[in-house]
Amino acid sequence: MTMIEGIETHTDVETLTSYGKDWTKHFTPKPKAVVFPRSTEQVRDLVLWARKNKVALVPSGGRTGLSAAAYATNGEVVVSLEKMNKILEIDYLDQVIRCEAGVVTERLQKKAWDNGFYYPVDFAARGSSQIGGNVATNAGGIKVIRYGLTRQWVTSLKVVTGIGEILELNKSLVKNATGYDLRHLFIGSEGTLGIITEVTVALTKQPKEPVVFVLGTNELSSIMEIYKRFKQKFLLSAYEMFTDLALKYVTSQCQVPPPFSTPSRFYILIEIEKDSDELINKAMELFTELSEEGLITDGTVSQSPKQVIDLWKLRENITEATSHKQPYKNDVSVRVSRVPQFLVEMSAILAKEHPDFEVVWFGHVGDGNLHINILKPDNMENTEFVKRCKHVDEIMFHMLERLEGSISAEHGVGLVKKPFLKHSRSLNEISLMRQIKKVFDPDGIMNPGKIFD
Ligand code: MLT
Ligand code: ZN
Repeated sequence: MTMIEGIETHTDVETLTSYGKDWTKHFTPKPKAVVFPRSTEQVRDLVLWARKNKVALVPSGGRTGLSAAAYATNGEVVVSLEKMNKILEIDYLDQVIRCEAGVVTERLQKKAWDNGFYYPVDFAARGSSQIGGNVATNAGGIKVIRYGLTRQWVTSLKVVTGIGEILELNKSLVKNATGYDLRHLFIGSEGTLGIITEVTVALTKQPKEPVVFVLGTNELSSIMEIYKRFKQKFLLSAYEMFTDLALKYVTSQCQVPPPFSTPSRFYILIEIEKDSDELINKAMELFTELSEEGLITDGTVSQSPKQVIDLWKLRENITEATSHKQPYKNDVSVRVSRVPQFLVEMSAILAKEHPDFEVVWFGHVGDGNLHINILKPDNMENTEFVKRCKHVDEIMFHMLERLEGSISAEHGVGLVKKPFLKHSRSLNEISLMRQIKKVFDPDGIMNPGKIFD
């Protein structure tokens, strides 16, 4: 089937099923067709066609999202950016890399590295996620405490709005005081304002060799105390946590050995750039201090680049290790100073409301961001499982509202968090967002039903 002359179009069941969804569970893909444009002009033609024919479009990148923002559940046409995957230019003086939206994150990172630079936005899905999707969801990941979110790195965007206009936003200017910065509206817009076709990101200098520590602790309250103490002494690149249950799944499903044999309720992974040999000595001193104070049960430190990779597997493989249990995922945050209170309240809620479920916690606690994954018991019906999880969402999100936190730290709103948006955004804000969408997408064809109705 060809909807528009010259644009590759697929309607076979296999393509519809795999391109109609992302990594989110519990939804059913039902697109009408999947199209593969090869240029910004073809994307514009598609938008104009969709406006004329009143067809909804779902922009699609690497489909690694976890909020169902890239799902087509209602006869939409999926616009895959996968064939727009050229790295167009590196500018050494501007220190930027310009590429089409379908470039896979890892390829961009490698290109930057091979040219003596570093693109620091990084996460486990780097091998499949695409830069356009990263921008559309303002991707975060494992290095945010040191380098920030995707938003911080985008210097320019080329987009096609829901009207069918091509816009070039900011053109990589460092300084540009000329009114509203529309680039930032598109970052995190989840495809609801238009389609990002080209992205330019800033690059930074390559980091020194990383050193990774994995520490164990038995007390929830120790997690942020240890963070404070490490932060006082070192410039950290990552501060991640996971529970003993997460470790159990990773070690059993992914054949990754545990970091040490002392059982601990919680594990902390810390990455620091090794700027001097002194660093290890200083870290060992702190480690001894924290152990003597009873905050740490045990710990290990990487001795080689391979061990850095292996220790990171303990944290990065959690999603893969638990995916067969159809986890119901939450991705929430509070400001960092409120994490201790948040962890205590959260564990009380989970213990009371989900005593019979396995709950895997992990996340970027250094950013105030926790991932809570409730695993489906094998003998429970999916609808019953989701119903029970949703009931607890309400309780959790009221608590988050009180702590002025966010119902979605980095995974986005999509379909999953849409019913709960009011817990993080005021009704006035949501109303303004709706009006902004109308300006860019007057016919409501751009990823309708995502973020809000
Ligand atoms: C992670 O931090 O590993 C990702 O956000 C993925 C996930 O939550 O499953
Ligand atoms: Zn994450």
